[in-house]
Amino acid sequence: MRLDRYLSEQLVISRSQATALVRSGRASVDGERTRKPGQPVRPGTSEVTCDGEPVPWVPEITLLMHKPAGCVTARLDASERTVLDLVPATWRRPALAPAGRLDKDTTGLLVLTTDGQLNHALTHPARHLPKRYLATVEGPAMLATDEATLAARFADGVALADGTRCRPAGFRWRAPGVAEITLAEGRTHQVKRMVAAVEGHVLALHREAIGGLALPEDLAPGSCRLASPEELLALSERGD
Ligand code: URA
Repeated sequence: MRLDRYLSEQLVISRSQATALVRSGRASVDGERTRKPGQPVRPGTSEVTCDGEPVPWVPEITLLMHKPAGCVTARLDASERTVLDLVPATWRRPALAPAGRLDKDTTGLLVLTTDGQLNHALTHPARHLPKRYLATVEGPAMLATDEATLAARFADGVALADGTRCRPAGFRWRAPGVAEITLAEGRTHQVKRMVAAVEGHVLALHREAIGGLALPEDLAPGSCRLASPEELLALSERGD
């Protein structure tokens, strides 16, 4: 791996910042100062420093979290508790970031990863990765509408209040007042806005699954753990 890429990944800086840092003579490899951004390094074997401080190679980690209500999906927030505050110190890394966003009051499955490619694969709009939600709703008009009518409206693409047409989505009642909604895109507050468009109001929202991975039963609200290789594969399954 090139030194500039190593530094950019481990210090969470841009590639051009890493290049400038190396060119200004602040980095060394195996005790030798270098000004060559393309200098080869062997992750986990080469001893890399920046400004004399070791920059160890930390492999990628991906965590599955059961997000509780009351914390924001952000890395830093001046006033609110964030999902990163729930991550035990051993798994905290500068590069650890949530893949996608759940509202402060939404609960359920959230992935946090240092792996930029995985983050992109889980969140990029063009991937249309399904995300399954359980929404507890109120609103006499919506509750009086039969399942087939609502399912057809969701399948056709709900038009939001601002005129945005959503991609086709899945709808079914799982219990009276509890809707299962499956989206293949991730607009801001999308489930709440779709439910509003069919004259309902979301009282509680929970993400049950991403791709082919359901929220693991061993994850209590507020806890997280490393994803297994099988879970990583399941996350990216689109089911088509
Ligand atoms: N849709 C919403 O409205 N909120 C979320 O947190 C996720 C999807």
